[in-house]
Amino acid sequence: MRKLVAGNWKMNGTRAALAEVAALAAAEPEPPCDVLICPPATLIAEMAAMGAVPVGAQDCHAGAAGAHTGDLSAEMLADAGAVAVILGHSERRADHGETSEAVAAKVGAVWRAGLTAIVCVGETEAERDAGRAAAVVSAQVSASIPDGDGALVLAYEPVWAIGTGRTPSLEEIAEMHGMLRAMLPATRLLYGGSVKPSNAAEIFAVANVDGALVGGASLRAADFGPIIAAAG
Ligand code: PGA
Repeated sequence: MRKLVAGNWKMNGTRAALAEVAALAAAEPEPPCDVLICPPATLIAEMAAMGAVPVGAQDCHAGAAGAHTGDLSAEMLADAGAVAVILGHSERRADHGETSEAVAAKVGAVWRAGLTAIVCVGETEAERDAGRAAAVVSAQVSASIPDGDGALVLAYEPVWAIGTGRTPSLEEIAEMHGMLRAMLPATRLLYGGSVKPSNAAEIFAVANVDGALVGGASLRAADFGPIIAAAG
């Protein structure tokens, strides 16, 4: 499966940061994998208009339009030029109380708009320590993905590895991705959580790892470029 390296800028970046996208396109003119950048929604239209890299969003509302102050629909994100939407990131599950059922409704909305849903799952450190990682993740997958047809990418992101510099062992990643492959045979499976230039190649070499969802190291071309190159 061709790998996908997706960047999640989270709540980082003003228009000045678009220079990093231009620098990335110059550094990796023919990337050896699919590349996606998910900037804050304020930058989607302008980044998409650059034509340098496919652009995604970080969340959407389940509805198409209506009285939902501050929210954005998948149709609006598509209209701005987004091709994908990250859904159910652990920061949204924690900060906004998003349940897997709410995530499933958003996946349906993303499919309705013709975009790719990138669904995030992952256990907390307490859940892993209690030996419950596989059970938690499989329950999240089952509840977060609705019936129906649409483009889907799954990102396994252990909560304790996000932004911490810590990662699971390669064996732990292989074990979880093996379970996910059995559940989702045809779906691209990304690993996420403290992926950086120094560990990307070894993570990409793990069985059933079809790419990465990268947070902090996606903000600068000098970090994201080498991660993309490692996916070749
Ligand atoms: P990180 O974030 O690469 O900064 O750990 C990953 C993510 O939250 O998608």
